[in-house]
Amino acid sequence: MKKLIIANWKMQLSIKESLALARQLKKADAIRAEAVICPDYSAIPSVAPILKGSRLMLGAQDAAASSRGALTGEVSPVNLKTLGVRYIILGHSERREHLHENSAIVNDKVKAALENGLIPIVCVGEKRTEREAGKTEEYLRAELHRALKGVKIRTAKDLVVAYEPVWAISTNKNAKPMAPHEAEAIHKFLKAEAKKILRQAIRVIYGGSASPANAAAYLNEPDVDGLLVGGASLKAKTFLPLLR
Ligand code: PGA
Repeated sequence: MKKLIIANWKMQLSIKESLALARQLKKADAIRAEAVICPDYSAIPSVAPILKGSRLMLGAQDAAASSRGALTGEVSPVNLKTLGVRYIILGHSERREHLHENSAIVNDKVKAALENGLIPIVCVGEKRTEREAGKTEEYLRAELHRALKGVKIRTAKDLVVAYEPVWAISTNKNAKPMAPHEAEAIHKFLKAEAKKILRQAIRVIYGGSASPANAAAYLNEPDVDGLLVGGASLKAKTFLPLLR
């Protein structure tokens, strides 16, 4: 199966920069991975026509837990679908930390995304404190079970889990990437846990300081099905090598 590489542009680019980067990426050849670009909401309507018909798919960084309603400021998964969005990042650690999003909210969002034919990329990851206390697996198991509770998928491709150890995300203090063999062991563990809940062998991708320097080492691990990329996805020069 092709590796899945997701660009998470976060809120790092202006609309103009988003368009310029989308144009550069679209022109690239020799793309072997399944690639998804997640601009910020305001850039989606203008990036969508650029990516249309290319090998790059469109994603969003979040979506509301319901399709329609009196929810000021929220963004409907239905409208994202209409704009051509296929994938939705849910439960990113930055939303959990700064916007107090918890796994119960993430769970509702996962269900709403699936009901609307979107593929959730469900983020889980331990913080440095859990890691140092030797509680990584315990923490991940609980987070995964809460986020996927009652979730039903039809095929293995309907949902992706992104394993992002919070301490490894490049914008966090003293961040450094997790060793690929360690990531591999945790991917195996997460796949086994997800299978217990979903009865399907879903894809698990790694995120946290992924870059052209280390991508191949992750992607050579059999259970690492792809990468969720922040910093390195903001320039064609650092993102395109991950797709080839
Ligand atoms: P990073 O971000 O690649 O810059 O570490 C990954 C993420 O936060 O999704």
